[in-house]
Amino acid sequence: MACQARIGRSENTETMANQDEFFKKVVAHAKEYGFIFPSSEIYDGLAAVYDYGQLGVELKNNIKQAWWKAMVQMHENIVGLDSAIFMHPRIWKASGHVDAFNDPLIDNKDSKKRYRADVLIEDHIAKIEEKIEKECEKAHKRFGESFDRQQFVTTNARVLEHQKQIDEIHERYAELMNANDLDGLKQLILDLGIVCPISGTRNWTDVRQFNLMFATKMGSVIDDSDTLYLRPETAQGIFVNFLNVQKSGRMKIPFGIAQIGKAFRNEIVARQFIFRMREFEQMEMQFFVRPGTELEWFKHWKEERLQWHLSFGIPADCYRYHDHEKLAHYANAATDIEFRFPFGFKELEGIHSRTDFDLSRHSEFSGKKLQYFDPELNESYTPYVIETSIGVDRTFLAIFSHALKEETLEDGSTRTVLSLPNKLAPYKAAVLPLVKKDGLPEKAREIQHLLMPDMMMQYDEKDAIGRRYRRQDAIGTPFCITVDNDSIVDRDAEGRANDNYGTVTVRHRDTMQQERVSIDQLPAYLKAKL
Ligand code: GAP
Repeated sequence: MACQARIGRSENTETMANQDEFFKKVVAHAKEYGFIFPSSEIYDGLAAVYDYGQLGVELKNNIKQAWWKAMVQMHENIVGLDSAIFMHPRIWKASGHVDAFNDPLIDNKDSKKRYRADVLIEDHIAKIEEKIEKECEKAHKRFGESFDRQQFVTTNARVLEHQKQIDEIHERYAELMNANDLDGLKQLILDLGIVCPISGTRNWTDVRQFNLMFATKMGSVIDDSDTLYLRPETAQGIFVNFLNVQKSGRMKIPFGIAQIGKAFRNEIVARQFIFRMREFEQMEMQFFVRPGTELEWFKHWKEERLQWHLSFGIPADCYRYHDHEKLAHYANAATDIEFRFPFGFKELEGIHSRTDFDLSRHSEFSGKKLQYFDPELNESYTPYVIETSIGVDRTFLAIFSHALKEETLEDGSTRTVLSLPNKLAPYKAAVLPLVKKDGLPEKAREIQHLLMPDMMMQYDEKDAIGRRYRRQDAIGTPFCITVDNDSIVDRDAEGRANDNYGTVTVRHRDTMQQERVSIDQLPAYLKAKL
């Protein structure tokens, strides 16, 4: 199945309007079924901060476990770390965050709304991209199956004109960003005729820089020297522990240190649900290599990380690489793995070749030599680093939004189903007694307890069986186990043996097919499927 609009099972490319509609359904579904709630909701919420509910925390933990397993458990040369959120303030000076972790801001004088100048420009580019999509959509309808998108986008005059516009804006924008030219950014916004979405006017202030780190104070004396920052990335905790881990773990290069943890950024444009949050979680791995080998390792990790995403069974055309042409001054290669979110392709994960920048800077600022003695070369050097950095919340959003479908069934009814990868589903199976009597609930409870040590289980005896199936479909439970009379009665009224005695019906979420499985075989049966 290709990556496409799933609510309504449209075969067409999404339009902006039904993308928006679908995204609203994602947010509403997440809340209704206990995946994600707005933070502090009874106090009217806190912008861009969210709480994970009873099902959300399960899905989130499963994502983290899948990452940890792939990165740490499956690599003997990668070990874990859990560093503190609070760190010495000089770390952020050394890393460059105090001086350069800024967003360019601009205010609209009429609406008094504040925007990120770069986001205004990117949104403008996205609108032109949308025009290209519409041209493709129209051509697809016209040519049907024989439509060749690649050929169309490289030959159609209107598409080429749009693409030219995009390339020109990109080029000018990248130059301005690299030169930190704030006046130039304002001029670009004016030249592109970008208006404030609220007031509709072009009455903009100058662009100025805004640091994204949250500052706080430690201890009882309040002065500048004890300003601490909530970490904006987990990576620095890894760099400053490089020697501790390398020496205590007797690690030999190449090796990696992986960490999952909270990060905080005072995002100005915090929107799109859990895509851009002020408090979020990252899964980062820093891989330390011999200088000169970093680009090979960069290629390796770029491929390996994409394979991890594909391992969830989401179609490959939902992902794409975005190689950075303009690099940060310390990087010699960088790429994003982008995902086709309901609001378009956006960054999901970054893979960066960070050279020896971080270790060198921490050596300089701390006065401690952060080097590695390479016994094969018989020399010491500052290792180079390949970083893989992914947001837990963005991964959640990618997987959740891709899984949510509204299907029209053969009888014309609809069902909402969350086709999560089995290994990520919050509950692996639900046990449902067909009726609430005749010993069926007792048998169902027995089965629940049989399976509970191995997997998250739900028990549900309320409402008609069809409604219970729908409830489990909506929360992504891959298997429903229905206990009926045949499960517990060994002979019928005439004394004939019941072939289905000791079996239950297992219903599959995605196909809705049902099969009889012996209760004794259930643990092995489910483990194999999961
Ligand atoms: N250490 C490198 C680093 O932090 P980044 O591109 O700024 O790089 C890495 O962030 C990943 O963290 C992103 O690809 C994204 O998945 C996630 N992320 C960043 N900012 C986020 C935010 N405000 N809300 C949610 N996730 C975010």
